[in-house]
Amino acid sequence: MTSEPVRLGVVGLGRAFMLMLPTFRNDDRVRLVAAAAPRAESRDAFVAEFGGRGYATIEELAADPELEAVYIATPHQMHGDHVAAVAAGGKHILVDKPLAVTMKDADRMVAAVEAAGVHLIVGPSHSFDPPVALARRMIASGDHGHVRMVQAFNYTDFLYRPRRPEELRTEEGGGVLFSQGVHQIDIVRLLCGGRARSVYAMTGAWDPARPTEGAYTAILDFEGGAFASLTYSGYAHFDSDIWMDDVAELGGRKDPTKYGAARRALRDLDPGAEARLKQTRTYGEGAEPPVPDANEHFGPIIISCDRADLRLSPGGVELFGDDARSFIKAPLDPAPRKPVIDALVDAVREGRAPAQTARWGRASLEVCHAILTSADQRQPVTLTRQCGIDTEETQT
Ligand SMILES: NC(=O)c1ccc[n+]([C@@H]2O[C@H](COP(=O)([O-])OP(=O)(O)OC[C@H]3O[C@@H](n4cnc5c(N)ncnc54)[C@H](O)[C@@H]3O)[C@@H](O)[C@H]2O)c1
Repeated sequence: MTSEPVRLGVVGLGRAFMLMLPTFRNDDRVRLVAAAAPRAESRDAFVAEFGGRGYATIEELAADPELEAVYIATPHQMHGDHVAAVAAGGKHILVDKPLAVTMKDADRMVAAVEAAGVHLIVGPSHSFDPPVALARRMIASGDHGHVRMVQAFNYTDFLYRPRRPEELRTEEGGGVLFSQGVHQIDIVRLLCGGRARSVYAMTGAWDPARPTEGAYTAILDFEGGAFASLTYSGYAHFDSDIWMDDVAELGGRKDPTKYGAARRALRDLDPGAEARLKQTRTYGEGAEPPVPDANEHFGPIIISCDRADLRLSPGGVELFGDDARSFIKAPLDPAPRKPVIDALVDAVREGRAPAQTARWGRASLEVCHAILTSADQRQPVTLTRQCGIDTEETQT
């Protein structure tokens, strides 16, 4: 295996790219060599920092012979076309979550990467967070018996962060399901074996000024007998980070004096002004997120096994056994999203896929749609496109 850094291109220099910057800057196993972005300012900022080349279109980027892989960080609804373009150029793919908005696009993407013989990893996703991986290893050890039940919940200000207009339209991938639910679904599927059988759910869209789903509760049942309850609210009231040691989603400290700040920042903004505010949080424009001092997380998660409960926290996993209680630390790396780069390097250099493949992403997307359908029809929805954790199984 060569120890040369993976030569990576990026498409989309927006908020998601900003959140990956501390990882790219702190992990010398990847080298950014080109970017595609429609705005010249972002391309110029990229070339000034990383060298390499800036392209106006993804087709030019995909044809760059130096690239081995491309990180796709464009809006969800573009992922289908962008994956097709990169796969046609024969490059491996890291595509930010969710895989796509429509199941039709997801099918097309699975077919494109399999025909091209390239790896596709859906990430970053909080299913890569070190405490989740630690819990998964603890489950796989068999020491605590089978997973029987998972409770996952998260209360955030998601719906009141600055948005592009389509991020508030469900049919274009807006609302909490496609952007946030998919993290929780990825985590719960990873903990429960991957293959959900059915979903029963309710959703809430309670703010007419932001008319998309801001909340849901879903019950999933899994092959093997585990069941899970997933709850999310992005309505910017209760903040479940207070139950995560006051650590925010991205691993930074939560500042209690900032209560209500997200809602206040949007007050009196029209949609154009809000989209411009979002743009101030993108590469070459705004302040960058600090390197965190704790692991990222996606809210409180409790896993009940036969002989123990496991509670995830930013620091690791708290184990409540039959007789004793203990804490197992998860690693904290200077490159905050190191497990995503581990997966990328393994795929590009060793041909080994993580759990989060194109088929995996399609299965999590199926759950997002099933939540919306179940809530609409007031009945359970049977799932048909699920896959397991086993790497080979997710690829065949
Ligand atoms: N994993 C995470 O932590 C995380 C966080 C935020 C966003 N995301 C995901 O990242 C994706 C992008 O979301 P965002 O919030 O960064 O959006 P954004 O609007 O901040 O950024 C999107 C970027 O794509 C660029 N773009 C648009 N069309 C393009 C094209 N044809 N070619 C090249 N670039 C193009 C835009 O100029 C913009 O810079 C979404 O799928 C979202 O779910 C993930």
